[in-house]
Amino acid sequence: MSLSLTRCCFLAIFASLCGVHAFPGPSQYSDVDWAISQADGHSNSIPFNNAQFTCKVLEIALGNGSNNSVVEPSDSSYDSLEDINYSATCRLPAACIISPTSTAQVSLAIKIITKLRTKFAVRSGGHKDTPGFAGVDGTGVLISLSELNSIALAKDRSTLTVGPGCRWQAVYDTVVPQGLIVVGGRVGIVGVAGFLLGSGVSYYTNHYGLAFDNIKRFEVVLGDGRVVNASASQNPDLFKGLHGGATNFGIVTSFELNTYPFGDIYYEARVYDTNHTAAFLEAFAEYQFTGQLDPLSSVTVQVPSTGPVVLLQYAKPVASTSSFDAFKNLPYTTYIPPTNGTLLELLSFAAAGFPTGDIRTYGETFSHKVDAAFMVQAYGIFKAEIANLPAGAQAIWVPTALPAKAANDNNLLGLSKIPQQWHEWFITWTDASQDAQIYAISKTITAKLVAAAKAKNVLLPYLFMNTAGTSQHVLESFGASNVQVIKNVAAKHDPGQVFQKYQNDGYLLRKLQ
Ligand SMILES: Cc1cc2nc3c(=O)[nH]c(=O)nc-3n(C[C@H](O)[C@H](O)[C@H](O)COP(=O)(O)OP(=O)(O)OC[C@H]3O[C@@H](n4cnc5c(N)ncnc54)[C@H](O)[C@@H]3O)c2cc1C
Ligand SMILES: *[C@@H]1O[C@H](CO)[C@@H](O)[C@H](O)[C@H]1NC(C)=O
Ligand SMILES: *[C@@H]1O[C@H](CO)[C@@H](O)[C@H](O)[C@H]1NC(C)=O
Ligand SMILES: *[C@@H]1O[C@H](CO)[C@@H](O)[C@H](O)[C@H]1NC(C)=O
Ligand SMILES: *[C@@H]1O[C@H](CO)[C@@H](O)[C@H](O)[C@H]1NC(C)=O
Ligand SMILES: *[C@@H]1O[C@H](CO)[C@@H](O)[C@H](O)[C@H]1NC(C)=O
Ligand SMILES: *[C@@H]1O[C@H](CO)[C@@H](O)[C@H](O)[C@H]1NC(C)=O
Repeated sequence: MSLSLTRCCFLAIFASLCGVHAFPGPSQYSDVDWAISQADGHSNSIPFNNAQFTCKVLEIALGNGSNNSVVEPSDSSYDSLEDINYSATCRLPAACIISPTSTAQVSLAIKIITKLRTKFAVRSGGHKDTPGFAGVDGTGVLISLSELNSIALAKDRSTLTVGPGCRWQAVYDTVVPQGLIVVGGRVGIVGVAGFLLGSGVSYYTNHYGLAFDNIKRFEVVLGDGRVVNASASQNPDLFKGLHGGATNFGIVTSFELNTYPFGDIYYEARVYDTNHTAAFLEAFAEYQFTGQLDPLSSVTVQVPSTGPVVLLQYAKPVASTSSFDAFKNLPYTTYIPPTNGTLLELLSFAAAGFPTGDIRTYGETFSHKVDAAFMVQAYGIFKAEIANLPAGAQAIWVPTALPAKAANDNNLLGLSKIPQQWHEWFITWTDASQDAQIYAISKTITAKLVAAAKAKNVLLPYLFMNTAGTSQHVLESFGASNVQVIKNVAAKHDPGQVFQKYQNDGYLLRKLQ
């Protein structure tokens, strides 16, 4: 689409007649207009919704070449920028990938993209496996925040400010040697921004709750290019909105995280025989009513077809702890022996076993009240359904234990104040021709699990954004009053509806049912 506009000359004459100061809007709008005029050769019409043209304007405004802010498919560095791990399904060839190196560049970029009415997507760590959320095809621009990767500890050490392009490994590499932790990811390769916007389940959640409830301040670039802080005292409504509304308001360009003093930890990992899966899941349910009440304990579980793998963790060195008694009568094989060590050592173990390279992944989620019999039943349903997967696909069941204290009224998730399971599962495969079949099987798995949980009266409405599938209705799962808050915050801070109209996909208000 291309609308005729006598923009440049007209504005120039207007400005010279009236004086620039009489002209509305921040002065940087002239940067935008200048870049557009350079790119369109002073023609009389701006090509709207034309990603190639928008990329040209972005190159002029942000610079290309040595600082590589804008990279197009013909550039030699394009593939490595596009082919970010985690899931190969998410590597869409955008018209160009821009990598702003400052908040000011993000602001300028969003002004240009908005003015030119061009589709865009925002990517930080790229670890969400829903295609089109942190990626866009040739009709749009991908804003990659990987260059916004600074990490700064406050002088008084009480907070750590991180850029959205950081991965958790770099964050822990900074704080752990200082005797501090932040409530962050459990796997080092994951990006901080998507994780934090989706709430975030941490090894420290039994102690401090969800990761995003430990954020002191967000810096946000709004749809009109303004840069604002959101905290309890500055734009508190936006601060609240970002505790659930995620990608509906702006682009977060930094997070100020609370730090907590912690030293070495205790950890061990066990593998259970597949024959003992049911007994293991019953024990895991029991843990949620017993050991999980000890805030220093943490239990992380994955169930591949070979049987449950469990990481038992305690946030200080101990000889033993009763927190893991729920598991004590079950025979197991030692994977990591009982160890007192640093979180960094544990992370180096936890780094193994995640897909890299050209693996495709997809997963979905549902939540339920803790109920041992249902845990076993649900896994049985999953196991029966994954028998239908095509050759080469692997499925992993990930029960995720949340303590009652993760629920609070400061966020918009609408959680019940009870121990609960945010069940996740994911499938990995390599053959793109199997995509549609795998997405269909995933839908069936979700439908059957939800129906079974409903029948047993254990279903909880909440859907965990970080592990939800492409078409799961995450925002609706927070409840109508929380959705209304998100709508109000978006109406106030994104009145132009930039994040609804031009953002490629996501858990967006525009998709509410
Ligand atoms: C191996 C692995 C382990 C994981 N472990 C955990 C875990 O322990 N706990 C947990 O809670 N989750 C976990 N997750 C899920 C993870 O939190 C989500 O996938 C999360 O979205 C990843 O963040 P990212 O920045 O890498 O994502 P991206 O794919 O870059 O982004 C995810 C979404 O956020 C948007 N977005 C990204 N950056 C910004 C920004 N700065 N401003 C506005 N919008 C933005 C994107 O547009 C997209 O919609 C894990 C995922 C993987 C693959
Ligand atoms: C290139 O990047 C640097 C920051 O690394 C920035 O200061 C400079 O303005 C950029 N060049 C252009 C032309 O924008
Ligand atoms: C970007 O860089 C390339 C190669 O250095 C150059 O040919 C091209 O003209 C530049 N584009 C713009 C818009 O400056
Ligand atoms: C946001 O807060 C930080 C830290 O207090 C401050 O340095 C920065 O200038 C603030 N930015 C805006 C736009 O208010
Ligand atoms: C698991 O069950 C199978 C089938 O009942 C049996 O053959 C096998 O020996 C069992 N393995 C263990 C370790 O108990
Ligand atoms: C871990 O530390 C505790 C407390 O100092 C100690 O009693 C225990 O023996 C240590 N365990 C191992 C395996 O080193
Ligand atoms: C993705 O993973 C592959 C294989 O491990 C690795 O070679 C490549 O460097 C990774 N790419 C990125 C962008 O991390």
